[in-house]
Amino acid sequence: MTHEKKKKIAIRYYSKTGHMKRMAEVVAAVTGAEARPVSEPMEEPVDTLFLGSAVYLAGVDAQVKDFIASLDAERVKKVVCFSSAGILTSSYAQVKALLEQRGIAVDAREFHCRGQFALLHRGHPDRQDLDALRHFVAQLEEE
Ligand SMILES: Cc1cc2nc3c(=O)[nH]c(=O)nc-3n(C[C@H](O)[C@H](O)[C@H](O)COP(=O)(O)O)c2cc1C
Repeated sequence: MTHEKKKKIAIRYYSKTGHMKRMAEVVAAVTGAEARPVSEPMEEPVDTLFLGSAVYLAGVDAQVKDFIASLDAERVKKVVCFSSAGILTSSYAQVKALLEQRGIAVDAREFHCRGQFALLHRGHPDRQDLDALRHFVAQLEEE
């Protein structure tokens, strides 16, 4: 699709122990966008926002909620979620609900993998997890 305008992409993540940061850097490597923490507000309108968040006790961190509350539905066409967690399934359901409350579309496809939690899932996200994430993002990029 040589005549198509290149999609504008942004990446934001929240990471307490570095897993989501590593994952965001993989998304950055595939898309060419910069991996930035949710503490950095969105500057420009985007077609796709990749949003990375893990699960902690009661769910996503308050910083992720604040970031979502700061988004302008007119300036974010769609969000693609990626997440990791030690025990639970992904943060997708919570993040999706928060985004939809703001009127922002959320891609039905998400990426989730295990993230080391104390002695559980040591070494995750590992190379295979990151390869799977790379593949997931590359497939979306082809659309
Ligand atoms: C303080 C804390 C609380 C956590 N609570 C949960 C939890 O309740 N359920 C769960 O599945 N994983 C839990 N985890 C595991 C994280 O979701 C997992 O390690 C994730 O990969 C962390 O990503 P991060 O390194 O980007 O912060 C917790 C991790 C931390 C550090």
